[in-house]
Amino acid sequence: MAILKIARMGHPVLMGIAEPVEDPTNPEIARLINDMVDTMADAPGIGLAAPQVHVAKRIVIYMVPEDRTSDGEGHPLTVLINPEIIVLDDAVEDGVEGCLSLPGMSGPVARPTRIRVQALDHQGQALDYEAESFHARVIQHECDHLDGILYPMRMSDLGQFGYVQEMTQAQE
Ligand code: NI
Repeated sequence: MAILKIARMGHPVLMGIAEPVEDPTNPEIARLINDMVDTMADAPGIGLAAPQVHVAKRIVIYMVPEDRTSDGEGHPLTVLINPEIIVLDDAVEDGVEGCLSLPGMSGPVARPTRIRVQALDHQGQALDYEAESFHARVIQHECDHLDGILYPMRMSDLGQFGYVQEMTQAQE
């Protein structure tokens, strides 16, 4: 088990295009994924992309807690290798996002609500499924990391970007 250092916004590894993984079953990839799982749990977070731990490879992990979905159905820990996202319809919705690479900050981002995901899992098996609402948002946020995109770059109103603590206190 190893907890890896998380790169913060400004580090070049977060700004580049990550490389595809040639062999998902390579033991080094397996070790990286295990370390990413430990790192995400420690943070704690619900999603992590390999560039966030200074590895420019197309790997993300995520999970959706039950209390973060309207239907109460969570999504278990999932590994996506070389993921591709297909947007299934034009509907978009705003949702507040945060990121382990921008600790303490959050802001609303409009994203498509229905997507299809194609990827390989940690055993090299093909995954192909649809995701909606918060689940779709998490996947899109994490996959953006593989293309050097951080969520503030997708915000339409940077006036709503800020420190969670300040915004929470202002509401009280
Ligand atoms: Ni992030």
